[in-house]
Amino acid sequence: MCGIIGILGRGPVAEQLVDSLKRLEYRGYDSAGVATLEGDHLDRRRAEGKLKNLEKRLAQQPLSGHAGIGHTRWATHGKPTESNAHPHATDNVAVVHNGIIENFRELRAELEKQGARFASETDTETVVHLVNSYLLKGHTPQQAVAASLPQLKGAFALAFLFKGHGDLLIGARKGSPLAMGYGDGEMFLGSDAIALAPFTDTISYLDDGDWVEITRGSGVIHDVSGAVVKRDVLKSGASSFLVDKANYRHFMAKEIHEQPEVVGHTLARYVDMGTERVMLPARLPFDFNDIQRISITACGTASYAGFVAKYWFERFARVPVELDVASEFRYREAPLRKGDLAIFISQSGETADTLAALRYAKSQGAHTLSVVNVPTSTIARESEIVMPTLAGPEIGVASTKAFTCQLMVLAALAIAAGRGRGELSEADEAKLVHGLVEVPRLIAAALTTEPQIEKLAREIAKSKDVLYLGRGTSYPLALEGALKLKEISYIHAEGYAAGELKHGPIALIDETMPVVVIAPYDRVFEKTVSNMQEVAARGGNIILMTDAKGAEEATVESLVTIIMPDMAATFTPIVYAIPVQLLAYHTAVVMGTDVDQPRNLAKSVTVE
Ligand code: AGP
Repeated sequence: MCGIIGILGRGPVAEQLVDSLKRLEYRGYDSAGVATLEGDHLDRRRAEGKLKNLEKRLAQQPLSGHAGIGHTRWATHGKPTESNAHPHATDNVAVVHNGIIENFRELRAELEKQGARFASETDTETVVHLVNSYLLKGHTPQQAVAASLPQLKGAFALAFLFKGHGDLLIGARKGSPLAMGYGDGEMFLGSDAIALAPFTDTISYLDDGDWVEITRGSGVIHDVSGAVVKRDVLKSGASSFLVDKANYRHFMAKEIHEQPEVVGHTLARYVDMGTERVMLPARLPFDFNDIQRISITACGTASYAGFVAKYWFERFARVPVELDVASEFRYREAPLRKGDLAIFISQSGETADTLAALRYAKSQGAHTLSVVNVPTSTIARESEIVMPTLAGPEIGVASTKAFTCQLMVLAALAIAAGRGRGELSEADEAKLVHGLVEVPRLIAAALTTEPQIEKLAREIAKSKDVLYLGRGTSYPLALEGALKLKEISYIHAEGYAAGELKHGPIALIDETMPVVVIAPYDRVFEKTVSNMQEVAARGGNIILMTDAKGAEEATVESLVTIIMPDMAATFTPIVYAIPVQLLAYHTAVVMGTDVDQPRNLAKSVTVE
């Protein structure tokens, strides 16, 4: 939820810290701050709101220290004010933190009894006073951190800077990601590879429970027992991705338009275009024939990708699929059995609920397979099998290209499951794969509806509530459409199974409530037409997303009909996601909201 950076530099680091924080803003952006060692003392600059406010503060009061830490915040404890902004500090130590210290109240009460004076409402400030209490007793910084960490309950990534120690950074992680970056005569600590990309692509990820003492020439990693350990040194690759908006107004717009390319990249990793057969990038340590049940667990948009996949696995492989959101799954002690297949879907690979659900499934002896966009993420590293999406960094908080890439991976997996269980013949597989091979082109065709959708968005922007309806695999897409609209335009929206309309929601229908109907001409199209008639009869305004045949057959007057390219009905969710995304995007633009960084949200929810 927050972004962390630490630098032991060859020269002044303030500008480098801010450069890195700009790449971390997608993790949270309601306040930001830096701390550097200025001679023999620690100095801080912090600001409420966007990073540009911190830049202004630094321009007025520059910092020249060669060692520093920085933070961009998504508030969990304490309002997004300057006094709650990180870094938090005493005279001797400064800290930045991502995560939640669950027992901070007890610790704070104890520390206040010992005379500590708190200046904020945050859980983080407890950490700095705890470490400080050991420094005051004469402990070294390393001893002070090592003594403090076991007392912290919750998930955290921390970076510390110490007065009088100009060649020392200490980092610690438990649950929230943290990576060490290797430079030439300088060293780095950051939340992820993107934070470190401006400086290095040579990184080591800390494991849960690790803490690291870093100097400009070394990084010594200790595991939870204190033993010195080695962690893999990886080439992150993040620096090779262009993390900028190119000529788009927002990252979200760029990422919507990248989909033909990145869905194509993902497709090419999962099918052999020559033989038109599925070719999974990782060998599966099980035979699909032995899988009695599949559970799919994720959050938000990723959970809707999983919901679409449920239909595909059950149809192609005839295997029962249980779907749940991770925040429920992790606590309801689902009766997973040894040998079940548990699939986890996550763009960031750091979502706390999904990670906890993964750990539960592992404890039950299930095979764990994760579909992630960050192969070095915690969820990826803790899964038995990783199926990467090749969407590239997704910076817009609203997930778009990751969603369609997830669907591409899941479709390939479901076909492989169907083949593995003898439910699909080679000819069936070839037909389905051919349908997938067409998807990138179809997405590009779907993008040509943008001018029409941009015009429609001006109407939708006047609404207070919007209803999305779909049947079959269009039902999860209706849920996704509602989420997209509400999370970036702040207009209330609900997704519903079209068949459920008459069981209550129809009471909502009147001329003030647009109803978006996602209905390719498929075997349930006629049923959906009846639902549209029910809506029209009550004065509801219908926005119909269908194909040419559907437009012809729909015997209902619609406010607008978005004609999608003709395609096989099976994989329509991957293509019909495009108008759904565009409608949310353009409505948000009309509403003037912060499309890439909507209020109250963060890109990666690394706390529960
Ligand atoms: C997507 O538009 C949302 N921002 C959010 O629901 C997101 O999908 C969810 O938080 C899961 O994130 P993950 O894919 O990184 O696990």
